[in-house]
Amino acid sequence: MAKYKIAWLEGDGVGKEVMEAAKLVLDAVGLDAEYIKGDVGWEFWKAEGNPLPERTIELLKSTNCCLFGAITSKPKDEAAKELVPELQDKGHVYSSPIVGIRQLLNLHTNMRPCKAFKGNPLNYRDDIDLVVFRENTEGLYAGVEFHPMNPDVMNALLEHHKKMQKFKAVPLDDLALSCRVFTRSACQTIVRDAFEYAKKFQRKSVTVVEKPNVIRETSGLMIREARKIAKEYPGIELWETNVDAMCMWLVKNPQDYDVLVASNMFGDIISDLSAQIVGGLGFASSANMGDDYALFEPTHGSAPKYAGQYKVNPTAMILASKLMLEWLGEIKYAKQVETGVANVIGEGKVRTYDMGGTSSTLDVANEVVKKMG
Ligand code: IPM
Ligand code: MG
Repeated sequence: MAKYKIAWLEGDGVGKEVMEAAKLVLDAVGLDAEYIKGDVGWEFWKAEGNPLPERTIELLKSTNCCLFGAITSKPKDEAAKELVPELQDKGHVYSSPIVGIRQLLNLHTNMRPCKAFKGNPLNYRDDIDLVVFRENTEGLYAGVEFHPMNPDVMNALLEHHKKMQKFKAVPLDDLALSCRVFTRSACQTIVRDAFEYAKKFQRKSVTVVEKPNVIRETSGLMIREARKIAKEYPGIELWETNVDAMCMWLVKNPQDYDVLVASNMFGDIISDLSAQIVGGLGFASSANMGDDYALFEPTHGSAPKYAGQYKVNPTAMILASKLMLEWLGEIKYAKQVETGVANVIGEGKVRTYDMGGTSSTLDVANEVVKKMG
């Protein structure tokens, strides 16, 4: 029996080809694993009215961890039109399977390293090395939303909130509401994970990225918890920066930052921005981690226009595999993969189109294998 059972979810678009690239690298380090394919994504939405079938959730529950390719998401009305005729108008509502998995399995911590590899022509600067910790299960992603507005909720809000009065006359159909839900425990968990990481890797600061001057209750809760937890880590500074200013600082002085921590939506935004300054989404990987399960994925989407062309950069997916190796405790293998990636980028001979080259997805993977040492 293999040492690990790993769920293999390719998803949509370029997911399949970047995972093929990752598999070359995992096989080359010699990871002792059984990979079990699972169904997820657009194909299953169209055919079954569910992009995350129950059998896939069962598969996840029976494995050590999951590698995940990419997903196509569309707004709910557009998604509904693509259902097979038998499923039309049966009340199926599309929701993102990756968001669903994070919540169902309580993968509360999304870690997204953004490191500039030397020699990458797309780097904004070569000395950027930061890590985003994104709360992964609640906030604006909690899914507590109304449109048309629900009359009971409307009445309750009118009764309990003075500021709601100004919307009193708005017809229910002209009002949409998306709630930002924070719990103290999730704030504590994400902040603590950020500090633990900073401690382990001798980082000097943790920056909490919120907007407490305006979004007083949710951002306020996060900041207060961060201040309390920071006291337990005397060697590490806590910086507090509003999310808008953070975007500006990330463009201006990204080299000043070590660890960033934010709620779900703000973390989503700053992680794309952080990815771009180290070469773009082709280099950005993420680890979705719970207490005893984790899912690893590139931060990029399914890039439908490139699907099947073996053109896209597999580095993000290969680095996601590296995060998986670290999480499994296979540190030696993880180092080998990172060395391979660093060498390939450093030498600059094998490059996909985004880096100005003509090499294919699998050329890059094979070169990483050659240069792993
Ligand atoms: C990400 C993506 C997802 C998100 C999408 C695909 C639902 O943007 O992982 O950052 O919003 O979390
Ligand atoms: Mg995103």
